[in-house]
Amino acid sequence: MSDLGVLRRFDLSNRVMIITGGAGLLGKSYAQTLSAAGAHVVVADLDGESADQLAKTVTEASGVDALGIETHVSKPEAVKAMAGAVMEHFGHIEVLMNNAALDPKFDAEHTGEHTNRFEDFPFSAWQEALAVNVTGMFLCAQAVAPAMLEAGRVVIANVSSTKAWRGRISNSTNGKASRRSTSW
Ligand SMILES: NC(=O)c1ccc[n+]([C@@H]2O[C@H](COP(=O)([O-])OP(=O)(O)OC[C@H]3O[C@@H](n4cnc5c(N)ncnc54)[C@H](O)[C@@H]3O)[C@@H](O)[C@H]2O)c1
Repeated sequence: MSDLGVLRRFDLSNRVMIITGGAGLLGKSYAQTLSAAGAHVVVADLDGESADQLAKTVTEASGVDALGIETHVSKPEAVKAMAGAVMEHFGHIEVLMNNAALDPKFDAEHTGEHTNRFEDFPFSAWQEALAVNVTGMFLCAQAVAPAMLEAGRVVIANVSSTKAWRGRISNSTNGKASRRSTSW
């Protein structure tokens, strides 16, 4: 396939793509790559300042209209306001990437807070992660659904980790839990 063919195939011109957690490690790469293919990216993040900054950088680099929005994906009103602001600015939403996440085992702000062992893992950290990683996906999808359904096209990508497919909490032998380690 010629270069032109590849570019045509991945041409995202004029598509509006919301990336939640867009100011994070992977979110930045998504924003840069998708905008390079022509998409108007919305960097929606708890860290509004970084989201704004990234949107400016992306616009300068690729010429697309990128928008930074501060939001909290596990708060229904904040998520509705984010979707409303996107509709007001662009008038349409083609793609939602549910990428915002908390991983209290590794997030810098939680470093050293607990041992990370399953037995000791704090209930509050579990609840906080579920609120962002699971409820956040539901709320964001719900908030963009009216615009997508009206347009007759729904594209929602939920970002996860391959660790989600590993059904174990430790190294195990013969299907029995090992005593060696229960650290995640
Ligand atoms: N980094 C990796 O190596 C890796 C590997 C596999 C999968 N993933 C998955 O990719 C996704 C992103 O990972 P990452 O490494 O970029 O994480 P990250 O911690 O660098 O970024 C997460 C972003 O989410 C934002 N965020 C947190 N809570 C929020 C909330 N309530 N509302 C809005 N934004 C919020 C943070 O401010 C941050 O910018 C996660 O789902 C993670 O599981 C990451």
